[in-house]
Amino acid sequence: MQKRKVIIDCDPGIDDSLALLLAINSPELEILGITTCSGNVPAKMGAENALYTLHRFSNENINIYVGEENPLKRELVTAQDTHGEDGLGENFYKTSTNKNIKYGGVDFIIETLKNNKDVSIIALGPLTNIAKALMKDKKAFNNLDEFISMGGAFRIHGNCSPVAEFNYWVDPHAADYVYKNLPKKIHMVGLDVTRKIVLTPNIIEFINRLDEDLAKYITEITRFYIDFHWEQEGIIGCVINDPLAVAYFIDRNLCSGFESYVEVVEDGVAMGQSIVDSFNFYKKEPNSFVLTQTNEKEFMYMFLKRLFPSHVDKINTTGGII
Ligand code: BDR
Ligand code: CA
Repeated sequence: MQKRKVIIDCDPGIDDSLALLLAINSPELEILGITTCSGNVPAKMGAENALYTLHRFSNENINIYVGEENPLKRELVTAQDTHGEDGLGENFYKTSTNKNIKYGGVDFIIETLKNNKDVSIIALGPLTNIAKALMKDKKAFNNLDEFISMGGAFRIHGNCSPVAEFNYWVDPHAADYVYKNLPKKIHMVGLDVTRKIVLTPNIIEFINRLDEDLAKYITEITRFYIDFHWEQEGIIGCVINDPLAVAYFIDRNLCSGFESYVEVVEDGVAMGQSIVDSFNFYKKEPNSFVLTQTNEKEFMYMFLKRLFPSHVDKINTTGGII
């Protein structure tokens, strides 16, 4: 199998951690490195969390780079109310020491693009690192294969304001810059599709019967997130946005959408809103592929089978888990 080279840019974060778990269990991917930016938690904490997840569940030595600590212009607003003070559901795991963490996320992105052909980027957090890298060396992005961004909202309400999704709301200037300057179309994996991906108590109950450390970890980190969803939205379970971006990168059949021009509102009452010009009022070349539909069951089967490969039979045959 021809592996595809990827950089995962993220802000772990509970659902980012689940996305990393999916990525490290996906043979289609060659992960060249992980970069973090500030979003759910400050960039350095995100890197420590990524390192913790990788050390516990992967034998591979994937480099993790801390990227930008602050959005381009706005003050940083994290989502520690949603993901916990520690970004991993307030389990306060003993994360690895500083010496394992590298710095220079933006330069890593640039150098990796320059030194490799066909590198794709899966961005699971605010687009600060990507915007900075683009500003510094736009030419390097000629080697970019595909760009997937979890972010934005088209026909669905936001999760930070009535119209704005968190990743674009945290750094709207970066998001808008990337939409307007990236030489490739952005696959916008927005809330229209990710809100359909719910980790339910049924699924958690099921994986706990598989008796694996990974199930324990998923249960621990999602507890806080589930409480948040109940208090905030009256949902039992939690929406796991980021793994869908990884899954979609691997399997295009999981989602569908349409090409459009997109820009992001930088300030004011609609700050962070992704304006999708689906009726082509602006007469601008499409810069995005906006996802509108997903097969949430197919996603969940894929997710569970990859995370628990020795239990595929049970996942296929146990009724009513998904
Ligand atoms: C996005 O915001 C973050 O809280 C999640 O990790 C995800 O990337 C969803 O709006
Ligand atoms: Ca994220």
